[in-house]
Amino acid sequence: MEIGVADGENARNMIRAAFRNFSPEEVEYFGFDLFGGNDGSWIEQVRQKLEENGCKLKLFSGDSVKTLPELVKTLPKMDLIFIDGGHSYATVKSDWENSRNLMHDETAVFFHNYDFSGPKSVVDYINREQYAVEIIHTPSDCDAALVKKKV
Ligand SMILES: C[S@@+](CC[C@H](N)C(=O)[O-])C[C@H]1O[C@@H](n2cnc3c(N)ncnc32)[C@H](O)[C@@H]1O
Repeated sequence: MEIGVADGENARNMIRAAFRNFSPEEVEYFGFDLFGGNDGSWIEQVRQKLEENGCKLKLFSGDSVKTLPELVKTLPKMDLIFIDGGHSYATVKSDWENSRNLMHDETAVFFHNYDFSGPKSVVDYINREQYAVEIIHTPSDCDAALVKKKV
């Protein structure tokens, strides 16, 4: 699951990475984005791009602060969640609180842009007794945080 799909390039890379270990029938991608604009062309372009991969696909349009809580009960537990939508503290906090409900014991939750104040404040506040938190520094990208349940 990815919050913040943008042009779908990262989605395509995640799906291709999943194909290294799973068949296309076993891979399911859930994407949340504003997919702004009135004509619906953005979401359709992304859908087309991702459908070429042949995996199951669901895209949800709108503010994740609203859409995710509405949908969370209908979604399966996720193996990987990438939080990279709105970067304000309130949005990242909401995305994290909803994502928590979609974690199984092995789920990996990545926060992109840990070096931004919104994601950083949310990650720094995560309870270290319940969750293992690793900050990832990459030379070619912004910092990220990886959060897993402590089991
Ligand atoms: C940084 S881009 C995502 C980049 C993508 N994950 C990647 O790695 O290439 C952020 C995206 O989040 C979307 N976004 C911003 N605020 C959002 C919100 N409140 N709800 C849903 N999507 C949002 C924007 O439309 C934009 O496409």
